[in-house]
Amino acid sequence: MAEEKAARLHLAGKDYDLAVLSPTAGPDVVDIRKLYGEAGVFTYDPGFTSTASCDSTITYIDGDKGELWYRGYPIEQLAAQSHYLEVCYLLLYGELPTPDQLVDFETRITRHTMVHEQMHYFFRGFRRDSHPMATMVGVVGAMSAFYHDSIDINDPVQREIASIRLIAKVPTIAAMAYKYSLGQPFVYPRNELDYASNFLHMCFSVPAEPYNVDPALARAMDRIFTLHADHEQNASTSTVRLAGSSGANPFACIAAGIACLWGPAHGGANQACLEMLREIGSVERIPEFIARAKDKNDPFRLMGFGHRVYKNFDPRAKVMKESADEVLDLLGVHNNPTLQVAKELEKIALEDEYFVSKKLYPNVDFYSGIILEAMGFPTSMFTPIFALSRTVGWISQWKEMIADPQNKIGRPRQLYVGSPRRDYKPLDAR
Ligand code: CMC
Repeated sequence: MAEEKAARLHLAGKDYDLAVLSPTAGPDVVDIRKLYGEAGVFTYDPGFTSTASCDSTITYIDGDKGELWYRGYPIEQLAAQSHYLEVCYLLLYGELPTPDQLVDFETRITRHTMVHEQMHYFFRGFRRDSHPMATMVGVVGAMSAFYHDSIDINDPVQREIASIRLIAKVPTIAAMAYKYSLGQPFVYPRNELDYASNFLHMCFSVPAEPYNVDPALARAMDRIFTLHADHEQNASTSTVRLAGSSGANPFACIAAGIACLWGPAHGGANQACLEMLREIGSVERIPEFIARAKDKNDPFRLMGFGHRVYKNFDPRAKVMKESADEVLDLLGVHNNPTLQVAKELEKIALEDEYFVSKKLYPNVDFYSGIILEAMGFPTSMFTPIFALSRTVGWISQWKEMIADPQNKIGRPRQLYVGSPRRDYKPLDAR
């Protein structure tokens, strides 16, 4: 980050020079940190549409070109050539691992996949019909009550252990939430399986019969994890950073991220999208839903479409679309009506003036649900799968923030538009 240029703000007859910071990639950033101290004014930017909340070396998005890089590596290359645990290492430590480093990292993750046995009782406090995201928010938050030896955020060793524990145990917790909702026994992790195969095993095996993970499905699952692993300063990541800026422990911060992810404008869109595609049901009904999405008096939005940053194809959606074709082929599912509706909906929307002029394209959530459904997951598990994939991104961003000597508690200002000062009136005078 180089400071080369300056911007000048003219306000109430005075000039203020503001530094302009140049990133490695992306638009320049006007540094307004001293603005209030010098000029006595705040800036106003609800939804952070023009505000960089931090500097980061982890992930980069070029929304106009539709590019996404993890530590400089394009997502398409990682999705095709790498695998999730290697991507986790890259996000956490900044470089691709050597063969020895990868083996060591995989061993450390694998050795932490089991959860404290007492957590099983914790699950039983939930109703069977709880949404797995509700269960996950509670149980991941409760990890701080089980792993006291890794909640001192000032100790880098404890931060490292907490990171490994979260990446290793969140899939176990997600699978347990699923099993609990079915009324089936929890399935313990198996350490000889790779990360994605182990997750499929914990979700789909039952004690009554053997379950063999299909390697091609495991590969597709792994690719879904990779595509969701990080996405710079989105709402849930910013939530994790804000929670962490107060010094809260990592388990509490990740629980906050999971809670934020659940919303339908964010990670909850994958469930909402598949439910929408099912509701549309047939290609003939698409125009009706397109019309609703365009109607300002109808709150309906095309789920899985649009993005704050991408004003072009979400590169994750492209990979996901190819993956959907592959997985359905593999499973021998031909003429899947939901996939047909999705493809036709995409085609019609991309030619429609409303979507073209607003630069609304399919996002990561548009095709992911079709793959997950074909694999056998109910819609309620879609967002938990997003959450377990994103845990590494949240943790990497949290670690980066804690290690930054400039880290300050996050504390936005406001534009107060409430009542001016007034005096309290006793009850009998109102
Ligand atoms: N369907 C119809 N109209 C839309 C859509 C949509 N999916 N998305 C945006 N618009 C319109 C919106 O009505 C607005 O129109 P106008 O300028 O006339 O008021 C314009 O496009 C800009 O929308 P916005 O809400 O101001 O944009 P935003 O950057 O605040 O919101 C978004 C981004 C992702 C929340 C939004 O596009 C959306 O609600 N999409 C559907 C939900 C979804 O798929 N979310 C997943 C996002 S990707 C994964 C993730 O982040 O977790």
